[in-house]
Order: sequence, then C-alpha cells, then structure tokens
Amino acid sequence: MSEQWTPASWRSKKAIQMPNYPDQEALAKVEERIRNFPPLVFAGEARSLKAKLADVSAGKAFLLQGGDCAESFAEFHPDNIRDTFRVLLQMAIVLTFGAACPVVKVGRMAGQFAKPRSADTETIGGVELPAYRGDMVNGMDFTSEARIPDPERLVQAFNQSAATLNLLRAFASGGFADLHKVQRWNLSFVENSPLGERYRDMSVRIQEALEFMAACGMTAETTKQIRETSFFTSHEALLLNYEQAMTRVDSLSGDWYDTSAHMLWIGERTRQLDGAHVEFLKGIHNPVGCKVGPTIEPDELIRLIDALNPKNEPGRLTLITRMGSDHIGTVLPGLIRAVKREGRHVVWSCDPMHANTVKSSVGYKTRHVDAILQEVRAFFEVHKAEGSHAGGVHFEMTGQDVTECVGGGQEIGESDLSERYHTHCDPRLNATQALELAFLLAEQLKTERQADQG
Ligand code: PEP
Ligand code: CO
Repeated sequence: MSEQWTPASWRSKKAIQMPNYPDQEALAKVEERIRNFPPLVFAGEARSLKAKLADVSAGKAFLLQGGDCAESFAEFHPDNIRDTFRVLLQMAIVLTFGAACPVVKVGRMAGQFAKPRSADTETIGGVELPAYRGDMVNGMDFTSEARIPDPERLVQAFNQSAATLNLLRAFASGGFADLHKVQRWNLSFVENSPLGERYRDMSVRIQEALEFMAACGMTAETTKQIRETSFFTSHEALLLNYEQAMTRVDSLSGDWYDTSAHMLWIGERTRQLDGAHVEFLKGIHNPVGCKVGPTIEPDELIRLIDALNPKNEPGRLTLITRMGSDHIGTVLPGLIRAVKREGRHVVWSCDPMHANTVKSSVGYKTRHVDAILQEVRAFFEVHKAEGSHAGGVHFEMTGQDVTECVGGGQEIGESDLSERYHTHCDPRLNATQALELAFLLAEQLKTERQADQG
C-alpha cells in the first residue's frame, strides 16, 4: 500500500471517467452530508464475504455475481428487486444442486448506478451533449439540462441503495429464500418453457431431499441454512467522491472499509496502476475486484495484483476477465500461468458480457447468447487445461422479460429487440437466458469437480 493512504489520497492521482461537476461547492456540501449517513453494510459482513471468496480461490466454492448493468431511479420498484433476486436464487440453486458446490451470491445491486463511457460526449442530429453517466450522475434525456452532473443524485442513489438493501436483507432471511420455496421462485414466463420444466424437475428432487433431511431431524426450524441464505452487494467503485464519503474506520479492527457495499470493483477503463481508482481500492479492506480485458500483459497483471493485494490474502482480490469469445482462448492461458508461477491467490471470475457487445443491424446495442455461453465454456476449458479453478461468473441480467440479448431458448431475433428493450446501459440477459446460463455453468462445474475427485 502507498505510504500515506487515506480515503482521500486518490485525489492526488489522475481520476478518469468522473463527472465534471459545475458547482464544486454544492458537491462538497453533499459529500459532507453523506459522510454522516449510516453505513449501508457492516465491516464484519465484508469480512465474511472475504472468507467465502477465500474458499472460492481455494477451489471449494463458486462465485455468482450478477444484476443490472445500471440501476435506475425510474425502475426503482420492489417487484424489480424481487425478480432480480429470485433469478439469482434460482441460478444459485441450479449450481448448488447440479454441481454440489457452495455458491457465493453477490448482486450488482443496491449501488450500481454510475457508468464509465467510451466517449465523453454523445452527438445526435448534429447536437453534442455530455454523455449520460448513470442516474447517480446525470439524466438520460438528451437535453443539455438533463446532462448536467448533479451532486444531489448521489444522495438519491444512497437512499435507493439503502431501501434496496433493506428489502434484499428481508428476502434473504425472512422466509422468501427458504429452500422449500424453490419451485415458487420460477417466474411465470419461464415456467412454460423447456427450461422451466427442467427447473421444475430439479425442484421436485430438492423437495425429496428436504423430506429426507426432515426425517433425519434437519428442518427449516432447526437448520438456518434451509430457511435463510446469505446475499452480498457490489458495484463498480467509479464515483470516488461518493465512495470516499462512505469509507469509515471499523471500530472492531481499526481498518478502513468502504461501507457502500460488501464488494467493490474497478472497471477495465479505470484500472491504471498510477490512477485514482487503483489508489482508492488499495486502502479499503473490503474484498475487491478488477476487470481484466484482452490487452493486458501478464507482467502488468502481476503488478496490478500486487498493488491491490500486497499481502496476497486469499479472497481479497477477484480478477474478472472480460476477453470476448474470440480472444479468451489465446489470452487467458498466459495470465493464469503468470499468476500460478508467482504464487498469487486470486479468484478467477468470467464476465462473458462486456467484450461480446455488438451493434445489431437494427441499431440496438446487443449481445448474442451464443457468444456469451461460448466465452463461459472457453473459460472453463482454459482453467481445466491450466489446472486452475474457474471460480465464478459476473454477468448482467434482470428478472424482467426483456428482449435485449439475442438468441437463447426463446430464440430472440434482432427484429424482436425493439419489443422490450428497457436497459439504461448495456443489454442484459433476461430470466430465461440467465437460467440457461446457470444450467450450462452447473454442467461445467460438475465436470470440473468430478475431474478433481477422480
Ligand atoms: C460494467 O461492468 O458494467 C463495465 C462497464 O465493465 P467493463 O469495465 O468490464 O467494461
Ligand atoms: Co455493463
């Protein structure tokens, strides 16, 4: 860690992808208010996630991290939170049951509002305006007024995160996640598909297993693991003014924790070794993640790992590779070999979304389910060949029946995209496509575990 790390030390480094607030005084006042808001998560919870991720890095568990590309103020609704949560639960149960592997569930939720952009401005019909950077920064409407960064949006994002997290905690421990409800997590529009049937078959088998366990004395009343689940939150640590204001000293350990989420990651565009985002992540004690794209060199990766996890602590650092289905096979092996050679402990997670984004013939930004699944398959293959654990996945999905990614069992075509294209940023998997991904993961993971045991 740099010698004098403080929650503010990022300010002396180059900070890219951050909004230019026209009213700095208003921003400072908002930061001061946020500093006095209650923490959203407790440091002990972040430590518990780190311990679970240490199991993932040791090959004993699997990380499932997913949710919206960008949460929005307009789509803030309990049903949306519930539906995203239940698709994640469904995916987790498919993996836990299908591969007999513990699953660590982390939502891209309750704080995922700010977006890095490939260009600072957007031009439509000859008019150039600042890019939309997520609801936490400015408005999506294409007007000069909406696009002005407004610090009050940081407060609104905090409030929405608090309310979202409150509901997620209630769902996780209040009975919704009880294993006896597995069949009820199925969403109506998934239920009538072949996948819905596959899921139903699995829930019947889980029901039988629960009955057997009950006969042995393990019921929802006696066994917490049957009635509750653990669920963690994460988002990209992009707006460092906000993250700094949420960073507090934990009274138990005396260490700094960013209390805006259990886990924070930095993106492919902000992972410069000498940049502000790496500096900020270095000093917080939460588990952290870093996106890794196809252009990174093995040496650069090792330097990044050492900056973010200097004590080589298992569970501290998750590398989220996002290579693209065409590149993963050539790039990933060299990175895994370097990490193995240097003896670094990391969680390897696969983001099969961000390097597989294409423009459809009808103009929508989309992703092909085939390319997504292909990157996931290649991720498992490469790890198998290198004798390393394919530790997890990181994906963008929603519980809503959207038409944003093409392909999959519902055979969504390019001409269907306009029907329900609701995303505020990148195209997300819908519930059916997410479940399809889960069944593929379960197969891959089962094969990996059988090979380990055999
Ligand atoms: C994201 O996760 O939404 C994102 C922008 O990813 P990346 O940094 O990998 O492009
Ligand atoms: Co995205």
